[in-house]
Amino acid sequence: MKKLIDIITERMQAAFTECGYDGSYAKVVLSNRPDLCEYQCNGAMAAAKVYKKKPIEIAAQVVDVVMAEAEVSGGKVFSEIDAVMPGFINLRLDESYLADYMNEMRSADKFGLEEPGHGETVIVDYGGANVAKPLHVGHLRSAVIGEAVKRMGNYLGYHMIGDVHLGDWGLQMGLIIEELRDRQPELVYFDENYTGEYPQEAPFTIGELEEIYPAASAKSKKDDTFRARAQEATFRLQNGYEPFLAIWKQIMKVSLADLKKNYDNLDVHFDLWKGESDAEEYIPWLIQDLQDQGLAYESEGALVVDIAQPGDRKELPPCIVRKSDGAALYATSDLGTIIEREKDFSPVKYVYITDKRQELHFIQVFRVAKKAGYVKPEIPMIHIGFGTMNGKDGKPFKTRDGGVMRLEHLIADINEAVYGRIMENRTVSEDEAHETARIVGLAALKYGDLSNQASKDYIFDIDRFTSFEGNTGPYILYTIVRIKSILAKYRALEQETNEGKILPAKSGTEKAVILLLARYSEVMETAFEETAPHKICQYIYELSNAFNSFYHETKILTEEDKERRAGWIALVMLVKDVLEACIGVLGFSAPERM
Ligand code: ARG
Repeated sequence: MKKLIDIITERMQAAFTECGYDGSYAKVVLSNRPDLCEYQCNGAMAAAKVYKKKPIEIAAQVVDVVMAEAEVSGGKVFSEIDAVMPGFINLRLDESYLADYMNEMRSADKFGLEEPGHGETVIVDYGGANVAKPLHVGHLRSAVIGEAVKRMGNYLGYHMIGDVHLGDWGLQMGLIIEELRDRQPELVYFDENYTGEYPQEAPFTIGELEEIYPAASAKSKKDDTFRARAQEATFRLQNGYEPFLAIWKQIMKVSLADLKKNYDNLDVHFDLWKGESDAEEYIPWLIQDLQDQGLAYESEGALVVDIAQPGDRKELPPCIVRKSDGAALYATSDLGTIIEREKDFSPVKYVYITDKRQELHFIQVFRVAKKAGYVKPEIPMIHIGFGTMNGKDGKPFKTRDGGVMRLEHLIADINEAVYGRIMENRTVSEDEAHETARIVGLAALKYGDLSNQASKDYIFDIDRFTSFEGNTGPYILYTIVRIKSILAKYRALEQETNEGKILPAKSGTEKAVILLLARYSEVMETAFEETAPHKICQYIYELSNAFNSFYHETKILTEEDKERRAGWIALVMLVKDVLEACIGVLGFSAPERM
């Protein structure tokens, strides 16, 4: 289906052109004065300068043509169109036209959304967990935002490939290996003369592994020899030393099982479980190629590529691709990964989601990738740098004793808070309340994050996030649940599911709901184009508010006019379906009751 905004714009364009003005002046926007109109066109003001006329004259002329046109074609889109001083064109949409549009939306696939994607591959690099280090709230944002972006793209017809891009090749591995040596020197991995097979069983459980890494990390800060040993072990691992590769595989196995469980709990699912280690095989070629192309050169022992460009607002340092000790870096592994992704998928777009403190890193990596010709110039490479999740004190979120909050604990806290609220309502059994709390808790957590523009810091406030009122996940779910209950009552009453046709709106609140529904495709497309899930949150918040206002002033179930009542049922069902589609794309779902 054509987007409503496009239909309106085309009508205006035709009128501008017919009056002899360029069609580009016919841009239509949502009204910023909903008390006066629903949409508006301010193009007469700009046109006035070019055509040396009064803006109001142009506006009036255009309005006349639109009205005359509607009489001839009978296709009435506007109920009101006015030229007002100094030259605005105010528009209101026709109720019958909108009702038809609604009924078409209801029967169309994806509510009439025309998929802009045709299976083109887009890489979303998100999650970014570091193996053997526990997932903490810092990784939460990447997982939540990335999952939404991936689902948004799939919904629009793109072939989204989500890659967790694990940190699985860094110093933490050497730290764990050397700590393990200190604790269990008898393990065969540390016997230089051992030639047999390595054991199937890991020499640690996940619980032990989680304790080993922080212990080793703390030790390395006090003990320089230990740190040097860990660096040496990392270096040997990265250069293919068999025994360490064997331990590494065990670390990966144990850690991945745990990571998967955690991501599953967040309803976050990756298509690829690749990591920095997978880039390794491309690095020798990469380094050679950058040198052959004359892009990489020696600087203070390191190998670097200049990335500064004319027009840069600040001075950008070169990208270091090899350190003086020969070690590869974060940027090198990201470039290696790009080469692999080009080979495997040649994506039409890349999206990376990390903390915004990594901004420079991604500018460097993207510029090297383009400069060296690994990625075609027209392919967008986007870094979504998100802000920090802070506690109520405005400082980065910590546990009560000041430690880094673990994701599982955070989820447990949220679920407990939601459980409390559900039990206050006392509409469900204790068992159901636990299951419901899990569903609603996830919505509280994800919506609390996604409803903010990603780049902004936000305050993690359990009380606010779990509230059933205000701009929260539970509020949206509550609205859906409310509609489900209306529908169930209607079915019981009517003994049937046939919900009739949406009729022209009778009240302002009803029309407000319809106008919002009509924007669905436009919102979904824009949100993906701008990689802005918060725009979908904003939309469902407005839609929920509009629905609730309508609901409070309309006696749906006791309406005597059966056709009208069935029409309202059809309308609220559409609201529910649209809300559910939106939250599905955002990565959470609604319970039956709450
Ligand atoms: N592991 C990294 C971190 O924890 C994030 C990885 C992000 N993705 C990437 N391709 N660099 O900071």
